[in-house]
Amino acid sequence: MARITRREAVAAGLATVLSPALPAAFATTPSSPLKDHAAAKGILYGAAVQTSEVAANDDFTALVVAECACVVPETAMNWNLGLRGEMPGEEDFSDADIIMDFATKYGLAVRGHSLLWYQGTPPWFKALPDRASAEAAMVRFIKKMCARYRGRVFCWDVVNEPINLRDGRTDNLRRAAFLDQIGPEYFDLAHHIARAADPDALLVVNDYGIEYDTPEENKKRDALLRLLERMKKLGTPVDAVGIQAHLRVGGYPFSQRKFRQFLADVAAMGLKIQITELDVTDEQTPPLVVVRDRLVADEYARFLDVVLDEPKVDMVITWGLSDRHSWINGEDDDRHVRPTDRQPYRPLPFDTVLARKPAWHAIARAFEAARPRPAAISLPGTGRRSP
Ligand code: XIL
Repeated sequence: MARITRREAVAAGLATVLSPALPAAFATTPSSPLKDHAAAKGILYGAAVQTSEVAANDDFTALVVAECACVVPETAMNWNLGLRGEMPGEEDFSDADIIMDFATKYGLAVRGHSLLWYQGTPPWFKALPDRASAEAAMVRFIKKMCARYRGRVFCWDVVNEPINLRDGRTDNLRRAAFLDQIGPEYFDLAHHIARAADPDALLVVNDYGIEYDTPEENKKRDALLRLLERMKKLGTPVDAVGIQAHLRVGGYPFSQRKFRQFLADVAAMGLKIQITELDVTDEQTPPLVVVRDRLVADEYARFLDVVLDEPKVDMVITWGLSDRHSWINGEDDDRHVRPTDRQPYRPLPFDTVLARKPAWHAIARAFEAARPRPAAISLPGTGRRSP
């Protein structure tokens, strides 16, 4: 994704994107947007967005405003990618702030994604000479982010994707730069620092590869439960579990019983549950679009039907909104296609011309079938207390 500077954004017409007069592409659509289907049951629906998509002021920007009650900066808050933390202490917040301003203007909630991520660590961090300087840099960054967006970001993925079973550690933590530089205590420290810097923000443990009924994913769900138990025992602050839910069509067994039990186990710890990065890769589907879209929709349905049965699930975020912009299809000069037929993937609720797909209807139907629950957050605003 091409990064845009504040100056480019202004040149591209940011002033107009921030005015309420957006193209009324969906204003006359008879059926309610996903955010309304969700809100009727106390569920917050939203999507990940890139700065350029928000600044474009095009039909897609309008669709985000129409369908979403929440946005997640897809990469704009990433320490290395979005904030371009090229030097210690020197972050560039212009991309992230464009999304924040957009969200404020339209009364959208913002998920903070993420404070620390092994794939988003600036190279200089990895080269810091000793533990003390690494810990100081991590603490400084977390404090800076939480303070800057306090009252505007209602939850933070503190350490994104903290678990990696393949690293073979007894605590199951991923061997990331933070762990190598600071030690495993980096994880609890990060949560404590975030809580102190913004006591109202929900703190989330967000991870992937925990959805299906495969030996590896079953083990990872278990590892996540053990991590949460340990946090509870140590008094490490945590409010919610984020289930990324990058799903895949074809051949991946899903156990309703096991997954439902996992959700119940998390809920029994007093934690909320958020679906944070939902999308469906359709690599193993036949070429016909109508068939592909049906299979993708079925995958959304079989997952959400189980997920929304658990009342502690109060948020569903898709990782993008339309197939026009999806990380699965890659970016401008790095487009990905299905190896079988060279077609782009169709992972999201809207197609590239922004028409509702069967996936949209599957999500809407899942919201409709869900029992009401206490609202995730009261909009506009923040806070981890449900009304
Ligand atoms: C991805 C973005 O979508 C891409 O644009 C970027 O190049 C890499 O990161 N899990 C996460 C997200 O938590 O941050 C990742 O997002 C997708 C996997």
